[in-house]
Amino acid sequence: MGNEEGLRIVEREMLAVELPLKEGAKNLVFGKGSADAEIMFVGEAPGRNEDEQGMPFVGVAGKNLDMLLKKVGLDIGDVYIGNILKYRPPENRNPTDEEIKAHTPWLLKQIEVIKPKVVCSLGNYATKFFLAGGNVENMKEQEGITKLHGKTRNVNINGREIKLIPLFHPAAIIYNRKLIDEWEKDMEIVKAEVEQKTLF
Ligand code: URA
Repeated sequence: MGNEEGLRIVEREMLAVELPLKEGAKNLVFGKGSADAEIMFVGEAPGRNEDEQGMPFVGVAGKNLDMLLKKVGLDIGDVYIGNILKYRPPENRNPTDEEIKAHTPWLLKQIEVIKPKVVCSLGNYATKFFLAGGNVENMKEQEGITKLHGKTRNVNINGREIKLIPLFHPAAIIYNRKLIDEWEKDMEIVKAEVEQKTLF
């Protein structure tokens, strides 16, 4: 079975279960991009546009991400993009511990199918989730994105080794020239990891 089919099966399973936020959402926002990608991005949660279209990163944050990917010579066909939460929280409020606990097993199933060489967490929520080894109770004590962006970490979640490189969230940096430059630099590290060369 190919990865594409593997993801379709996971998505079908996910559609069939009850989950927090499902009732108030219009659509499941499962993921997009290449099922065979070597780089996977993980954002926080769908917003209004994502909820309406059932696709991650299609609103303003998505436009920013597309622009950033273009800058480093990539497009959506080269990567896979998902979120910590798969249904939109009302008014885009922050995810609760209970929601993260209920939704992230599906994110881990996506990673299991795709087996990306590098997972890039976008912003604080996704970064803290991975650094906490998937243990929601330990998320609060993790360091934030400002300190950790562009640094490679091996994290172990459910016995699976994941190479994590935290990145600034595209929505957070778009009006900040300096942080856009940092994002581009961090992506060079991501690409070097994928090509298994070291920069230093
Ligand atoms: N922000 C995210 O973190 N994810 C989306 O899908 C859209 C905006």
